[in-house]
Amino acid sequence: MPDAAGTHFRRQWDDYGVRLTTAMKELPLSKVYQLLEPGPVVLLTTARKGVANVMTMSWHMMVEFEPPLIACIVSNRNHSFAALRTTKECVIAIPARKLAAKVVKVGNSSGRDVDKFKAFGLTQAAAARVTPPLVAECFANLECKVTDTRFVNAYGLFILEVLKAWIDPKQKNPKTIHHRGYGAFVVDGETIRLKSRMR
Ligand SMILES: Cc1cc2nc3c(=O)[nH]c(=O)nc-3n(C[C@H](O)[C@H](O)[C@H](O)COP(=O)(O)O)c2cc1C
Repeated sequence: MPDAAGTHFRRQWDDYGVRLTTAMKELPLSKVYQLLEPGPVVLLTTARKGVANVMTMSWHMMVEFEPPLIACIVSNRNHSFAALRTTKECVIAIPARKLAAKVVKVGNSSGRDVDKFKAFGLTQAAAARVTPPLVAECFANLECKVTDTRFVNAYGLFILEVLKAWIDPKQKNPKTIHHRGYGAFVVDGETIRLKSRMR
């Protein structure tokens, strides 16, 4: 027999169970990523054997403040994968809303078949610390080197260190785009400011 606390807990659990089954609808596991993708959607440039390439990427997250470390997933099905693993260099370029249509085109084609910079009218600009180019149309560009490849084989997960960061001062209040799956994006909205000690 459960004690009083146990019974109470179970009753609460049952209550929650009732609420869950009545108010909530089960979400297919295949859609979970659409809830948690943090965005912003970015472009990742690489360069190998003198040829630059660019892909769209939304699976990334910060893992350290300074030096800034970023974890990102690059599938081994992508042409960019071999370039990133071999050269250990890339640029993360952050596009604003006006580039959204190009970002989707970049993410729906491969550098194996097409020069995406040329095909989609994106301009390469020289980086200072790495060989892959900045994307001139993006409002921010982060020059990165790969610092940890321990999870690449298992998950395509690369840890990148940002060596140099650039911001385009002409692009005021850029609105980032955040992926919701299959051509759906949320555009960055209003900023609210609350007291918080966390940076
Ligand atoms: C909105 C969007 C987000 C994407 N996010 C990722 C991602 O996080 N990781 C990944 O490996 N591919 C991602 N892709 C797919 C690649 O961008 C796509 O496969 C691209 O064609 C690869 O180019 P490449 O073969 O020239 O490297 C995404 C595509 C889109 C449209």
